[in-house]
Amino acid sequence: MAIGEQGRAVAAITGASSGFGAIYAKRLAAEGCDLLLVARREGKLAEVAEEIKRDYGVEVEIMAADLSVLADVERVENRIESIPTLTYMINNAGFGGNQKFPDVFLDVETKMILTHCLAPMRLCRAALVPMKAKGLKRKAGYIVNVASVAGFLAGEGAADYTGTKAYLIAFSKSLQCDVGRFGVRVQALCPGFARTGFHDAETMRFSNIKQTVPNFLWQRADRVVDVSLRSLRRRWRPNVVCIPTLVYKLAGYFGSSWLFAPLRLLFSWGTVR
Ligand SMILES: NC(=O)c1ccc[n+]([C@@H]2O[C@H](COP(=O)([O-])OP(=O)(O)OC[C@H]3O[C@@H](n4cnc5c(N)ncnc54)[C@H](OP(=O)(O)O)[C@@H]3O)[C@@H](O)[C@H]2O)c1
Repeated sequence: MAIGEQGRAVAAITGASSGFGAIYAKRLAAEGCDLLLVARREGKLAEVAEEIKRDYGVEVEIMAADLSVLADVERVENRIESIPTLTYMINNAGFGGNQKFPDVFLDVETKMILTHCLAPMRLCRAALVPMKAKGLKRKAGYIVNVASVAGFLAGEGAADYTGTKAYLIAFSKSLQCDVGRFGVRVQALCPGFARTGFHDAETMRFSNIKQTVPNFLWQRADRVVDVSLRSLRRRWRPNVVCIPTLVYKLAGYFGSSWLFAPLRLLFSWGTVR
């Protein structure tokens, strides 16, 4: 049976083949949502989908797509627009890099901007088609853009990473101003360091963050997702910006003050000089 066909809410999740994305998929399936899972590695997506179907009995559709390629983004957009019960849009796909300007790998930086900025913008717009059509009477939908606390900070070798994540934060805040009237809630999730596949990706091969960042700064990925979902559906005073854990909240809000110089330094120590 196709996703949403039985009238169930559908969650579309990008970057669902590992890390935060796979955890969002499991949490929302446990609540009874059907899923549309998107990432490049089809085999990994199929594994996540099989496990979820077996454990939660919901329908799961997978789409292999590279969100740094416009034609793939358009394919995902078309599918998302066609799901009348779409309730969650989780723009989570992303990756890091560790090269300093001007010696960056230009193709990697370009793909980062496309994956972190262009794709979420277009998928938000696509998701709003079915969400807006549901009307104002019931909660029409939830959008999560997975940014990073790095969007408030600065560090060596992270110009495009911090820049694209700052875009996602600012974009989400203004998007909420536009879509609140349709009953849509928007969140920019800003995690700090978390143990996922992120730090093992090919584009992070020059990073030594895993060795230099002390244990107390690592967050559990499942806790980050739980805080995100709880905060997203909070009845009173939900914030667009969601920063799990106190130390990163302080870094996010006061990141440019001298008090946070040690954290900013840690951020740049992750770069191989
Ligand atoms: N872990 C951290 O410390 C941390 C901290 C702050 C923010 N974040 C953010 O959290 C998000 C999720 O990352 P994660 O920590 O869960 O790392 P992860 O385990 O490496 O997951 C990243 C996901 O994004 C997908 N992806 C990457 N590039 C893609 C592309 N071009 N097209 C489609 N899918 C793509 C990957 O799937 P495929 O490889 O199969 O395509 C994977 O499913 C990212 O946006 C990241 O910036 C992570």
